[in-house]
Amino acid sequence: MTMTPSSTGFESGIHSNTEFAQSILAGLTAPQKRIDSKWLYDVVGSQLFDTITQLDEYYPTRTELGILRRHAASLAEYVTDGTALVELGSGSSTKTRALLNALTGLKSYVPIDISQEHLQDAACHVAAEYDWLEVHPVVADFTAEIVLPPPLANAPKILFFPGSTIGNFEIEGAAQLLRRMRRMSGVTAFVIGVDLVKDTDTLVRAYDDTKGVTAAFNLNLLTRINRELGADFDLERFRHEARWNSRENRIEMHLVSTSAQDVQLLGQTIHFAAGETVHTENSHKYTPGQLEGIAGQEGWLVRQIWTDADNLFGVAVLTPDSG
Ligand code: SAH
Ligand code: AVI
Repeated sequence: MTMTPSSTGFESGIHSNTEFAQSILAGLTAPQKRIDSKWLYDVVGSQLFDTITQLDEYYPTRTELGILRRHAASLAEYVTDGTALVELGSGSSTKTRALLNALTGLKSYVPIDISQEHLQDAACHVAAEYDWLEVHPVVADFTAEIVLPPPLANAPKILFFPGSTIGNFEIEGAAQLLRRMRRMSGVTAFVIGVDLVKDTDTLVRAYDDTKGVTAAFNLNLLTRINRELGADFDLERFRHEARWNSRENRIEMHLVSTSAQDVQLLGQTIHFAAGETVHTENSHKYTPGQLEGIAGQEGWLVRQIWTDADNLFGVAVLTPDSG
């Protein structure tokens, strides 16, 4: 296996505890209490997300994987000498394998994720399985500037952003990310997965599964805040809720306070009215036309949008529009 020395912890803009504290405090003192969904992914959160991907109700993972397995070989036209596959929010790198199996001309793989230990584990597994590949994990927050290790900064790159993680951004945030990636040098293609608009029942079930795994994923935020910031959230007094917001075309995850209560956090008392919620995640659902519009506006040409037979999920292939 080939792992760069930096693979044991090349860090670029990873958060400090102060950043976590400030973000949580600001969010919980806002009129609509909120927590940025990037904080869902500590070690336990990353494991719970992996369990979610195996649930019957959570159709996105198996659907996107099917699309990628069917079409990955056609991405070979974007692989030139020395090409790196750079993945945003790589998690367990499960979908990556569909690309690595088909694109053996790649030189390196750069998984980027905020969840440090989970990333290191996943990168080690990929490096062990693909002995011809150089693996350079980068712990970073992709909402900030991404600094790649020196040999990769100028390499040709295929960017890969699966999972519909782009859907976790507001539309303006998604546009900003596309704009920032457009400025990255050497990009030959940008492969993005997006979950598509569909009936509300299917969507709500995917985010409120019968086994309660998504509920545990959401509530784990409070466990994390208790552990890392010394707060005293009582997990028995909050419940998970997934709601469809038809105006914004998104599923929202909330934590609902089941009674009036006060929580101590970093020397402040945070009051919750009965039924008040903390908004913890947005998961926007796209139409192919909407994705085309945003990508076009941010300097990308849409070459393909592959979908499954039921039109549940889309994988778009973008190339830089230099015209
Ligand atoms: N790509 C995988 C995982 C998706 S889950 C898949 O498709 O199954 C979202 C992943 O993005 C998690 O691994 C999480 O840790 C990571 N993530 C979320 N917000 C992030 C951020 N701001 N910066 C970097 N990684 C982030
Ligand atoms: C990572 N992200 C795209 C997932 C989603 O579907 O929005 C996270 C998730 N939240 C609840 N279930 C899965």
